[in-house]
Amino acid sequence: MRAACRIVAEILLLLREQVKPGVSTAELEELANAETLKRKAKAAFKGYCNYPSALCCSPNDLVVHGMPTKTPLKEGDILSLDFGVLYNDFYGDAALTIPVGTVRAGAQALLAATEESLYAGIDKAVPGGRLGDISHAVQSYVEVKGFSVVRDFVGHGIGRKLHEEPQVPNFGTAGTGVRLKPGMVLAIEPMVNEKSYEVKVLEDGWTVKTCDGGLSAHFEHTVAVTDKGPEILTRI
Ligand code: MF3
Ligand code: CO
Repeated sequence: MRAACRIVAEILLLLREQVKPGVSTAELEELANAETLKRKAKAAFKGYCNYPSALCCSPNDLVVHGMPTKTPLKEGDILSLDFGVLYNDFYGDAALTIPVGTVRAGAQALLAATEESLYAGIDKAVPGGRLGDISHAVQSYVEVKGFSVVRDFVGHGIGRKLHEEPQVPNFGTAGTGVRLKPGMVLAIEPMVNEKSYEVKVLEDGWTVKTCDGGLSAHFEHTVAVTDKGPEILTRI
């Protein structure tokens, strides 16, 4: 899993460097595919329930599962990129939201709060803790900042399959849920909206958008629970 997650992190780093005004997400998709091939890995999302691409590209008010398009990114946009691979029979999965050039202060605050909430959750991924400790840490961090966590999509266990038990919600009650044990690996992935947490799936059956048109951000790491504490396998 370390090897698969290393590949995910390397490729997301390369993609992040390419995000600027004028670049399209279709170009990012091409890069992701070329770099995946170079590393003899397989893009995890392509073909998963017929999803067509290696990347999920979700700009602005798209929450998750946006598909690459030829529309150029523009100054002030934010772009969520979600990417996973299968390598030597194991999966890795990570996401981040990137500012395109300079973004307004509220957008910057949303990105910071979402990324920090992920780390607040990761801090609770320790042996003896409970799943709800992670969920609660994410939710409370986000809500203190005045943002809202998406309810309709959740993180997940990950390993020989992309999605394994347990589901990892970004909202919940501390001290509840399954007991965390060394060797468990979780994809923790807060999706955070600027305004209401309500989202809808578009006609294409994939693209998830905020109902109120507010911005949405998404950060994700694949994290192992170990005796030495949380190990972030997809750290960039
Ligand atoms: N990180 C997302 C997830 O874990 C990406 C899945 S996109 C899909 O669910 F196409 F694979 F569904
Ligand atoms: Co995931």
